[in-house]
Amino acid sequence: MKHWQIDQLPWDSFDPSKVDPELLKAVKAASVVERNSVDYAIYLNNVFKDDPDFQQAADHWAIEEIQHGDALGRWAMLADPGWDYEAAFQRYRDFYHIKLDVDQSVRGSRTGELIARCMVETGTSSFYTALADATEEPALKALCKQIAADEFRHFKLFYDHMQRYLKREKIGTLQRLRIALGRVTESEDDELASAYYTTNEPSSKPYDHNDCIANYMARAMRSYQPKHLRRVIGMVFKTTGLTPHSKLQDAAFWVAEKLFFKRQRKFAKLVGIN
Ligand SMILES: [Fe+2]
Ligand SMILES: [Fe+2]
Repeated sequence: MKHWQIDQLPWDSFDPSKVDPELLKAVKAASVVERNSVDYAIYLNNVFKDDPDFQQAADHWAIEEIQHGDALGRWAMLADPGWDYEAAFQRYRDFYHIKLDVDQSVRGSRTGELIARCMVETGTSSFYTALADATEEPALKALCKQIAADEFRHFKLFYDHMQRYLKREKIGTLQRLRIALGRVTESEDDELASAYYTTNEPSSKPYDHNDCIANYMARAMRSYQPKHLRRVIGMVFKTTGLTPHSKLQDAAFWVAEKLFFKRQRKFAKLVGIN
């Protein structure tokens, strides 16, 4: 059972005068990445091939992620009637592929895989919370709040399964931290850059990774406030087993805040937005 239906959202409250064209570009890119979760469900089913409980949870998770994509796509088409979500998704599918025929996680262990999933949900939950707080467009605000609630639940889902595997695989805090931070830095790899390219740039223009990731990141990071980042740090601490609400967590937040906003300003300057 999904926790909400797309038709239940307040689409009638959509106000075109409140659409931020820069956020719209980030929403378009996010919509195809969300929908592509169907591939990740196949990958997860292969990695957890003898764990039917987790496989069932992963299949259900993918259904919710696809709904995120479809709802974001619907909003983007309201904001830009000339844009075609289905066509953009097909272009993304043709352009970007993840390796599906695996029999173990690319993270080296099942615990590692679940840590990486926790980091993705940390990123998405904070992104949609920040977007909901930043946008003044009522339909997008309602949609992002709804999606963020799902993403926090997804974090808990992967976290609970991670705890189960951790008892068996016994991966230390340092290694967990390495996997978690590794996944965070991967956000600047091809997945999001390709999504930006295939949803916002004409196919006649050649793909330029650096340009596309700067364009995506400048917009995706723009809505974040320190409070969103504080929650991210809390979730990273929880995932990796570091002591929460500690002096170390305060120090990590202090460093992360500096790095994050410096990077956001760098990308914004590169692509010429505020
Ligand atoms: Fe999602
Ligand atoms: Fe999610």
